[in-house]
Amino acid sequence: MKAVILAGGSGTRLYPVTIAINKHFLPIYNKPMIYYPLSLVMLLKIKDVMFVVNPSDLEMFKNLFGDGSKLGMNIQYTIQHKPNGLAEGLILAKDFIGNDNILYMLGDNVFFGHDLVKIMNQAREDIEKNGGAYVFGYSVKDPERFGVVEFDENQNVISIEEKPKKPKSHYAVVGMYFYDSNAVEIAKNVKPSERGELEITSVNEEYLKQKKLKVKLLGRGFAWFDAGTHDSFLEAGEFVATIEKRTGLMIGCIEEIAYNNNWITKEQLLELAKPLEKTDYGKYLLEIAKEE
Ligand code: G1P
Repeated sequence: MKAVILAGGSGTRLYPVTIAINKHFLPIYNKPMIYYPLSLVMLLKIKDVMFVVNPSDLEMFKNLFGDGSKLGMNIQYTIQHKPNGLAEGLILAKDFIGNDNILYMLGDNVFFGHDLVKIMNQAREDIEKNGGAYVFGYSVKDPERFGVVEFDENQNVISIEEKPKKPKSHYAVVGMYFYDSNAVEIAKNVKPSERGELEITSVNEEYLKQKKLKVKLLGRGFAWFDAGTHDSFLEAGEFVATIEKRTGLMIGCIEEIAYNNNWITKEQLLELAKPLEKTDYGKYLLEIAKEE
């Protein structure tokens, strides 16, 4: 399995903050927003990642991650010239995806929860065995702001709609999806929505039509933030700060995960920690390297 992370877009909902800088570089507490979705990909032990980025941000992404080798990964980039919608990322990543199944992640989504990786792995195994697509539902107060999934008592999907005026459930579709490689062809046939974008929900609707869309729920024990507005951005940062200070453990620490995955050696971890020495982040990495 490979992963595609969407990190383009115009970020207009965070203006004026994002007039000059892409939101994915903004800090959610003590690390760039983009570390959070990348860390989940890494927790699933997926090494091959493609970022979909705006032309003006490519160099900055390369400064941050390079080709991924310092994390023991293979990181590639593809450019989205205009914010034409989330489904376009699938088309742009076509050659990278090839015949593989993919985890498709939105770069501004922050997740936290004990069994998250376990639940994601169940979906992944199902896709690897049977193909199709998976979405994840999360109960929210304001479903009309999101994709909304309706399902029956056996968790069979009944409908999926993008920002419906009258939501059929209070389950928002979060920004991570598993797809088989058919997603690329499906995305190619998607027509722009009213807001002029190729919606990821249209891809999911097609899977539903083909009876190949499944849903898993993230229940009460999970936290999910779409950090693309001023309030949710702040809330995500406060949440991460609270958990990290209480537990002494970091959320979304990509160097730690690379080390725990045995993708990098202790020496490489120390090398990564060196320029960060003055921060708690760097000190945390040094502590990890000291532990046996
Ligand atoms: C996108 C998707 C939506 C999903 C949301 C999750 O919305 O279109 O279905 O629920 O991400 O973050 P957007 O951020 O483009 O408004």
